[in-house]
Amino acid sequence: MTDLSNPQMGELHVLTRVSLRRATIHDALLFYALRLDPETRRFTPAFNTPLILEDHVTWFATRVWTASWFVAEENEQPVGIVRLDSGHDDRSYVSIIVVPSMRGRGIGLAMLQALAAAIPGPRYACIHHFNISSIRVFEQAGYAYTGEANGVWRVYRVIP
Ligand SMILES: CC(C)(COP(=O)(O)OP(=O)(O)OC[C@H]1O[C@@H](n2cnc3c(N)ncnc32)[C@H](O)[C@@H]1OP(=O)(O)O)[C@@H](O)C(=O)NCCC(=O)NCCS
Repeated sequence: MTDLSNPQMGELHVLTRVSLRRATIHDALLFYALRLDPETRRFTPAFNTPLILEDHVTWFATRVWTASWFVAEENEQPVGIVRLDSGHDDRSYVSIIVVPSMRGRGIGLAMLQALAAAIPGPRYACIHHFNISSIRVFEQAGYAYTGEANGVWRVYRVIP
């Protein structure tokens, strides 16, 4: 199996229509644009905290080299991003954002399938209870509801 934890890794092709590659510093503005997207902001815990470009670049540059963050590509064009982050509980949490113009085409599911093929879980996802399309995508990818967290969040878990 290809090891996505290896920073030297190039592009990984899987049996879905998206491929994942490890994010680099050159993806800072892509991540910023997707974090700023109103639909993404709506379902972000810090939704009413301004997202300042300089703060984002500092945060991104500090973490991108060690984090498990990926850019999903279709025909060599970015169609979304996938992040694996450690929670305060030391669990691995996945979050995804599909490029707005690419939504409604099953890209979110393809990204989760590509991630599962590359890096086996178990892992978790914390999803706003109104984010119906995200809940649907994670359920299609095999994630199961485990319970509520802090009122509006639903926690999902997948075991490979
Ligand atoms: C959530 C997100 C990742 C979904 O990705 P996507 O590739 O656009 O997903 P799709 O639209 O192709 O599929 C969503 C599914 O939800 C379904 N869905 C969408 N809205 C729905 C609703 N209101 N009720 C029921 N089902 C709904 C769709 O029909 C589809 O199911 P299907 O494949 O059975 O038809 C994407 O919209 C996104 O990036 N949103 C902003 C960031 C975000 O919220 N990320 C998730 C946080 S972890």
